[in-house]
Amino acid sequence: MTNKSSGVQALQWTGHSLKVLDQRQLPEKISYDEYTDTHGVAEAIATMRVRGAPAIGIAAAYGVVLSVYRHYSLSVDNWRQHVLADIELLADSRPTAVNLFWALNQMKAVLDGQQDNPLPTVLACAEKIHADDIAANYKMGDSGADILANAKGIMTHCNTGALATGGYGTALGVIRSLYARTPVKIYAGETRPWLQGQRLTVWELAQDEIPVTLIADSAAAWLMKSGAIDWVVVGADRIALNGDVANKIGTYSLAVLAKQHDVKVMVVAPTSTIDGSIQTGDYIKIEQRQQSELLPACYKDNALVSAWNPVFDVTPAKLISAIVTERGVVVNPVESGVGGLLKI
Ligand code: MRU
Repeated sequence: MTNKSSGVQALQWTGHSLKVLDQRQLPEKISYDEYTDTHGVAEAIATMRVRGAPAIGIAAAYGVVLSVYRHYSLSVDNWRQHVLADIELLADSRPTAVNLFWALNQMKAVLDGQQDNPLPTVLACAEKIHADDIAANYKMGDSGADILANAKGIMTHCNTGALATGGYGTALGVIRSLYARTPVKIYAGETRPWLQGQRLTVWELAQDEIPVTLIADSAAAWLMKSGAIDWVVVGADRIALNGDVANKIGTYSLAVLAKQHDVKVMVVAPTSTIDGSIQTGDYIKIEQRQQSELLPACYKDNALVSAWNPVFDVTPAKLISAIVTERGVVVNPVESGVGGLLKI
C-alpha cells in the first residue's frame, strides 16, 4: 500500500469515555473534550466539535455505549428505555449525514438482540464501526488514486480527512494516497461560512507535509478557467440510490462550474453514506444552521437583516463522473445509480 497515514485523531475511545478533538478551535488550538454521557456527545455533534459524516456516525455509536454504561451498569430501572431515549437524542443532533442514522440503527439492532449483559456487544459494535471506516478509507484511497493517476491538479471542498472520519479520510484520503504516489497540485476551497477547508483541510495536509494552495470559494471558476485542475474531489453526507449526492454547501456550484470547464467530479464515500431508502436527492433533508454562523454580530437584533444558511446542497448524479466506495467504483452514476453497491 502506498498510503501515507495521518496521525490526527478526531475521536479517541478511552475505555470509559469518548475524547473529542474540538474542531471549532483548530488550527489555533488542539484541545480534547472528554465525554462520559450521551448528552455531551449529542451536544458535541450538534455544535460541530466533531463533524464530517463518518465521524458523526462513529461518535454517536460511542454515545450509545456511554448510555448503556450509565443505565445498564448502574442498574437503572427500565435501562433499555433510557438507552432508546438517548438514541433518539443522538438522532436529533444533525439531520443530513445519513452515517449518523446508519450507525445508530446498527447499535440499536445489536441492543435489541441482546438479553444478557449488553456492554461487550455494544462496545464491540462501536469499535467495529470505527475500525471498518478506517479500513474503507484506505481502500477508497487506493482506488481513487488509480483513477486520478494522470491528474495534474485537484480541487477539494470542505474537510473530508482524518478529522471527518475514523481516520485517513474519504476525498482527502484519495488525495493523500495520490500524493504518496506522485506529486500533484492540491487546491482547497475555504468552504464558507464555517471554513472547514481553510481551518481544517489546510491544517491536516500541513501536518502531513503535503503542500496545499488555499483559494477563496469564489475563485473556483477562475481557477478552472486557468486549466490548473482536472478533477474536483469531494466527500458526501448522503447519497440517494440514483447517485444524487448531498455534500457541503458549495459542492453543487463546483459541479456546475466543472461541467462548464471540462473538469471531472469524483465523490468519495463509504457505502454507509448511501441511503437505500431514497430514490433521489429530492428526499434529502438539508440542514439549516443558525443565522449567527453567517451574519456579523452587529446585525443580531436587526429586524431588517437576516441570513439564509443551508449547510449542504445536492449535486445531481448527471454532474458526477465517478463515485468511489470501499465496495467499488461507479463510473457515470447517472447511468446505473449506486443501488448495486448495497447488494454486494
Ligand atoms: O458540516 P460538516 O463539516 O459536518 O460537513 C462535512 C461535509 O460536508 C463533508 O464533505 C462530508 O461529511 C464528507 S466527510 C468524509
